Amino acid sequence: MAENDRTPSFDSNEAAARLRAAVHAKAANYYAMYSSVLGGIVTDPAFMVLPLDDHMVHRGHSVFDTAILAGGRLYQLDQHLERFLRSAEMARIPLPFPVEKLRQIIIDTAAASGRRDASVRYWLSAGPGGFGLGPAECVGSSFYVIIFVAEFYPESFYSQGLKVVTSSVAIKPPFFARVKSTNYLPNVLVLLEAKDKGADNGVFIDHHGMIAESSNMNVAFVTRGRVFRHPPFDAILSGVTVQRLFQLARHLVESGDLKDIRIGDVPMEEGKAAAEMMLVGSSVKVAPVVEWDGRAIGDGKPGPIARKLLELWREDIRKATDQLVAVPYAGQ
Ligand SMILES: Cc1ncc(COP(=O)(O)O)c(C=O)c1O
Repeated sequence: MAENDRTPSFDSNEAAARLRAAVHAKAANYYAMYSSVLGGIVTDPAFMVLPLDDHMVHRGHSVFDTAILAGGRLYQLDQHLERFLRSAEMARIPLPFPVEKLRQIIIDTAAASGRRDASVRYWLSAGPGGFGLGPAECVGSSFYVIIFVAEFYPESFYSQGLKVVTSSVAIKPPFFARVKSTNYLPNVLVLLEAKDKGADNGVFIDHHGMIAESSNMNVAFVTRGRVFRHPPFDAILSGVTVQRLFQLARHLVESGDLKDIRIGDVPMEEGKAAAEMMLVGSSVKVAPVVEWDGRAIGDGKPGPIARKLLELWREDIRKATDQLVAVPYAGQ
């Protein structure tokens, strides 16, 4: 073996230099990170790293959530935190700090990013301490926050609608579907399968033939009788966005656009025969589905209810003061 084929070893200074050199162009999308391992916030992407012995890395013993920073305010932070705490409890991960401190760290990291529009993702992990399975060896739970470029989908999702296919990937068992853990392998595979088939996303169907959810979004419908329909939340993730849409959709019941809002099992045949179908989530917002398994939904065009719900949601992130948390930026 030639001398320069040897795997190099680095001292700490060289390793730090290498971490800097390894920063790729896309890291420009990462604005600030908090790490409980560091005990503070960094804005240099070279140091937005995790210890390999953190059980989040090698066991997936961790939970996460994502909120939106919109116009300098955190939208529905407390609702997302509530789900995060539920996930933590189900995954049996103790909090490293009181909830109020976790919340303040998220707000402080958003402020340190200097960004007014971004995505905010945070993780709670069993923590570092070894490479075993159980968390007994961990030195303590870890908490990480990243402020990164606002997630967005192509404009065509909204103007032309998207195509979905039924997933052949097995849905997570109900308990695991309700915990927002970092085990997203089925969610990734459902998306890849859809792309392979020339579609935009997939739809999980449960063991009783009922519609469940999509990759990282919920699935809602408008029946031909103008009823807003959504599956129950006992075997899927309780979407913060769709829960808010139920409230916003009441305006459409009042205006007569909708007759009713009904949460309950949606059989696949009912979904396929709907007037409208839409994907709903913090990343996709409200996006109309116009085709499922090659068959048109409704008239095959984005429907009016999806459009109105998206408008209501857009207004909500700007004006709903009870849903918005102010971020104290420097110099304000
Ligand atoms: C599996 C799954 N379902 C639904 C959702 C939608 O949830 P939210 O509206 O809180 O983004 C998400 C996203 O977090 C998800 O990962």
